Amino acid sequence: MSFEEAAAIPLAGLTALQALRDHGGIDSGQQVLVNGASGGVGSYAVQIAKACGAIVTGVCGPANVDLVRRFGADHVIDYRSRDPLGGDRKCDIIFDAVATLSFGKAGHACNRRATS
Ligand SMILES: NC(=O)c1ccc[n+]([C@@H]2O[C@H](COP(=O)([O-])OP(=O)(O)OC[C@H]3O[C@@H](n4cnc5c(N)ncnc54)[C@H](OP(=O)(O)O)[C@@H]3O)[C@@H](O)[C@H]2O)c1
Repeated sequence: MSFEEAAAIPLAGLTALQALRDHGGIDSGQQVLVNGASGGVGSYAVQIAKACGAIVTGVCGPANVDLVRRFGADHVIDYRSRDPLGGDRKCDIIFDAVATLSFGKAGHACNRRATS
């Protein structure tokens, strides 16, 4: 890895780590939804959540579905063909890295009270 490549890791990687670990209190076995899973922050979030033992659903555009699977996501939702918060499935953590989800709707799709 070059110094330039290595220097790109900390900001996006730490943003994802702080969101999932410090704010989300991520734990093994939890259902975690990452919105923007193909992006800089979201791609780290998927990998960190998997490393923590979570069951991860990544949300991305149609061109990046395979990429997000390769990051380790158990399920992938293409936001152009399906509402990421539709359906009955509940999440323990919803990490909206791109701020496109409705906060109120996310609260209903979460097993616990939404905080931030
Ligand atoms: N990168 C950092 O170091 C960093 C640090 C702190 C905060 N932030 C902030 O975090 C946010 C994300 O940054 P980023 O660097 O991860 O951005 P990015 O690399 O540009 O990724 C943005 C992602 O958003 C996805 N997206 C676009 N429309 C969407 C929709 N309707 N639903 C779900 N996903 C959608 C795109 O997915 P597709 O391409 O698959 O459509 C794309 O992968 C920004 O607000 C940024 O300011 C970034």
